[in-house]
Amino acid sequence: MAGPIVVTGPLIPEAIRVLEREAGRTIRFWDEDRPIPEPLLHEWARDAEGLLTTLNDRIDARLMEAAPHLQVVANMAVGFDNIDVAAASGLGVLCTNTPDVLTEATAELTWALILALMRGIVPARNALMAGHWKYWRVDGYLGAELMGRTLGIVGGGRIGTAVARRAAPFGMRVMTAGKQPAPERVPLDELLAAADVVSLHVPLTADTRGMVNREWLSRMRPRSFLVNTARGGVVEEGALLEALDSGHLAGAALDVFDREPISGDHPLARHPRVLATPHIGSATQETRTRMALLATTNLLQALRGQMPLNLLNPSVWPGRAGNG
Ligand code: DGY
Repeated sequence: MAGPIVVTGPLIPEAIRVLEREAGRTIRFWDEDRPIPEPLLHEWARDAEGLLTTLNDRIDARLMEAAPHLQVVANMAVGFDNIDVAAASGLGVLCTNTPDVLTEATAELTWALILALMRGIVPARNALMAGHWKYWRVDGYLGAELMGRTLGIVGGGRIGTAVARRAAPFGMRVMTAGKQPAPERVPLDELLAAADVVSLHVPLTADTRGMVNREWLSRMRPRSFLVNTARGGVVEEGALLEALDSGHLAGAALDVFDREPISGDHPLARHPRVLATPHIGSATQETRTRMALLATTNLLQALRGQMPLNLLNPSVWPGRAGNG
């Protein structure tokens, strides 16, 4: 009998149906409204052949070494900083992610944040709700106009490119700094000195962790805005608070945080010039459905001995072909 599959978080019904129809083995679902506790995940992983994970789960060498039957970790996210892919490769475990299907939704959220941040929509709404809207006044609720301003995109991959594509209708000039070729690509220093809004679209890696530190922020144009829909660990949160408190930055919109979830008491959530959202970049009905189905497909393909669509460690594949 094939070893079980572990699904570490809630899944959408369509993906559950596919799994139940096609897995041909026991499936253990964690369906409580909180992340699966780490000791239980380790226990369940011990005899599992496949894990369908989310960014809440830390899949490290210790977990995988104690799971001798594990063949695949299928992450339901494009980011995979929660998985030690190098350790997985060493153990012959396939790892997959869900790129492409969430690109447009994340780009849309980025623009929603840029617009809300620059035009002060949330503070204006809060003022209305608090009964502070007394009359129209020429200097009331003033934001910053997008037209004619410069958007600096750090990371010219899929999502950064999709954000850049949406800039023209708002009359914004785009500059990109990143490893991938992109139109208007400039050195980072030039981008930071020129951009009115800097939007982050890099993965969290050893190179990018803490990249947005005090020195980096000081190179940003005075009174500019920072938007982060990538990963919280890319930004040193203490340095960001300093830059906001000193008035060097005009504001920040943050969908991601170093340690998630944060509470309403977190200094960034409470900051009057921060717009904080709970990691909702990919949170549309359509995109989350596609992510769940894609992660399911990747998992099933690996367990059938087919090369998964979104294999992150292809070096492992030659030894694995035809296993199914
Ligand atoms: C991802 O996919 O990496 C997002 O952060 C969650 O959708």
